[in-house]
Amino acid sequence: MGKDISQAVIRRMPRYYRYLGDLLEQGVERISSNELSAKMKVTASQIRQDLNNFGGFGQQGYGYNVQFLYSEIGKILGLEQQHNVIVIGAGNLGQALANYPKFKKLGFVIIGLFDINPKLKGETQSGVPVMMLEGLEDFAARHEIDIAALTMPKNNADKIANRLVNLGIHAIWNFAHVDLDLVDKDVVVENVHLSDSLMQLSYNMNMHQNAGEIKDFNGKRVERL
Ligand code: NAI
Repeated sequence: MGKDISQAVIRRMPRYYRYLGDLLEQGVERISSNELSAKMKVTASQIRQDLNNFGGFGQQGYGYNVQFLYSEIGKILGLEQQHNVIVIGAGNLGQALANYPKFKKLGFVIIGLFDINPKLKGETQSGVPVMMLEGLEDFAARHEIDIAALTMPKNNADKIANRLVNLGIHAIWNFAHVDLDLVDKDVVVENVHLSDSLMQLSYNMNMHQNAGEIKDFNGKRVERL
């Protein structure tokens, strides 16, 4: 690839991947950028621009070969190889991740859950063992771990994140509501905040509701269109 691709483009790639996967399941072999654009509600030129970052993939007058584009985007997203994942915090969220089968289909295989609550020791979630955090170093010495998901309270998240990086884990999927202090560390972090998405929804709900209203000078609603 060579050049730096903007994060905005990268963020759109999983959506292309999902749509193309659906098309493949429907037996579609070829699609024009206009058809893909109509389906995804993204302009055809946006699609072309996005894919041109990686060398194009389309052919004038032919469109895109769905299987080829799907696997190329899969490669761009690093999905052609398996990623072993551990989860730190085996509570509601950690268990939900371990029990969601789609991650494995995408090549993200959860190989262990870690917790500090001794009551959880020896439990399994969809066949994944729950182990005690004190055994992390030993486990890491015996397994290749590519990604660690943090699904524990935020107060210890920094300490644990640093411990993970020292164990050679260079990717953290951070659900703890804290910006991890990993400056100068060789690690990539993806923060997930479901509540941010809800707040955005709430903002858009307000905008949507307000768009149909006429307000008086005090901001009080007087009529609905
Ligand atoms: P939970 O209370 O069900 O589970 C937390 C688990 O972490 C417990 O099993 C606890 O024993 C364990 N734990 C506590 N300290 C630990 C440590 N130092 N090392 C390893 N395990 C430890 O909580 P839930 O609902 O699963 O949420 C977990 C975290 O994820 C919380 O911080 C919560 O705020 C956050 N969260 C984030 C979301 C997001 O969208 N980013 C959505 C939901 C929860």
